[in-house]
Amino acid sequence: MFQPTVYKKRRDMLRNLMNGGIVLLPGNTEAAMNYADNTYHFRQDSTFLYFFGINQPDLAGIIDLDNGQDYIFGNDVDIDDIIWMGPQPLLKERAEKAGVTTTYPFSYLQISMNEAIAKGRHIHFLLPYRGKTTLLVSKLLGINAEYLGAHKSEELIRAVVALREIKDQGEITEIESMVDVAYDMHTTAMKMAKQGVVEREISGMVEGIALQKANGVSFPVILSINGQTLHNHYHGNILKEGRMMVCDSGAESEMNYCSDITRTVPVGGRFSQRQRDIYEVVLAANVKAIEAIKPGILYKDIHLLSARIIAQGMKDIGLMKGDIDKAVAAGAHALFFPHGLGHMMGLDVHDMENFGENFIGYDNEISRSDQFGLAFLRLGKRLREGFVLTVEPGIYFIPALIDQWHEKKMHTEFINYDKLEAWKDFGGIRIEDDILVTNDSHRLLGKPIPKTIADIEAIMSL
Ligand code: GLY
Ligand code: MN
Ligand code: MN
Repeated sequence: MFQPTVYKKRRDMLRNLMNGGIVLLPGNTEAAMNYADNTYHFRQDSTFLYFFGINQPDLAGIIDLDNGQDYIFGNDVDIDDIIWMGPQPLLKERAEKAGVTTTYPFSYLQISMNEAIAKGRHIHFLLPYRGKTTLLVSKLLGINAEYLGAHKSEELIRAVVALREIKDQGEITEIESMVDVAYDMHTTAMKMAKQGVVEREISGMVEGIALQKANGVSFPVILSINGQTLHNHYHGNILKEGRMMVCDSGAESEMNYCSDITRTVPVGGRFSQRQRDIYEVVLAANVKAIEAIKPGILYKDIHLLSARIIAQGMKDIGLMKGDIDKAVAAGAHALFFPHGLGHMMGLDVHDMENFGENFIGYDNEISRSDQFGLAFLRLGKRLREGFVLTVEPGIYFIPALIDQWHEKKMHTEFINYDKLEAWKDFGGIRIEDDILVTNDSHRLLGKPIPKTIADIEAIMSL
């Protein structure tokens, strides 16, 4: 955990941003895998972590916006728990680490909420994303679970986003150390990407490094020679020369800060001419987008910059044609680049998306497009110093999408469908880095992970 003063300061800053009432922040509970005592790896709620830092289940925090007090509700372990789990610190001791001096048994939470409701106080809560938390909040507040969404506090969401989206030095250090773990994950995957190896031999190794050097992966490993499927979690294919292997993976620190990196390499270690041609376009889109990052610029404009680089590259290869600006304005490039350039990252790999992506990536100035491709851009708003975000352009040859667009004669003035037929077996390429927005520019976080063709071929020949 950070020092207790860090959590106290965050709660005080939240008080400064809000008008009054009570903030209810339930932590997560254990989640059963197949029966109650066989649970998934425990993951604390990120907003609870941000304000209270305690990485244990069955807790709830209250931030009283009016009297300046904070409270943690939870239970001390009993002798049965000690037999199975060993001695645990008292709730009071755990709370002190978060700068909270007042604790109550968990059952008092209902009493406390009843009192607040009776007094007509505004109880701010975030919409839960887990079933057990949904049931808890519904019961605590006497609101049918179906209607919680209508009662969630947008004031609280906006205040939490305003705080969590700006990372301080301690948070940046955490994230950066996880990019360094990702360096080991990705360079290991590169060295293993040889003909005849089964994907899971590599994905297992990648996940093992995250477990050895950190708190595990920040999301399930995406590793596939079928990179045209954007989030491919199937790991049963045998690597074959001629295919590209996409590895999209990151680690999570003990304090739950994340990294999220993608590299794509040719099986066997040497790029063919065709792979080289596409790779250089994606690399240029990644590098030029990173170069353009600075405070004040719309991330949507950086997305469109990378889209133009991809469209121009595809035109140079002969797969697109016509005026590039018009092609991108029409959304024709999205046949090859059907997702957004990136997202915020922090305590969540897609930071705060549980609030609803538009609360994080968009604001009063800019709203989400409904055009295919651009509609999947999770972050469009103006960048500010302290944002940590991903830059992850890609080019994919998705046979079903190519066939659908071809049949519907979509964007025929910009796409060379006849030439495209020969590329339908290519797969996909994505290159992703994690970037900090600094006061006048940006900084690539962590030890640079090989991404030029020369660097990748060099490491794969080791
Ligand atoms: N790891 C999923 C993504 O890159 O957004
Ligand atoms: Mn990723
Ligand atoms: Mn990402």
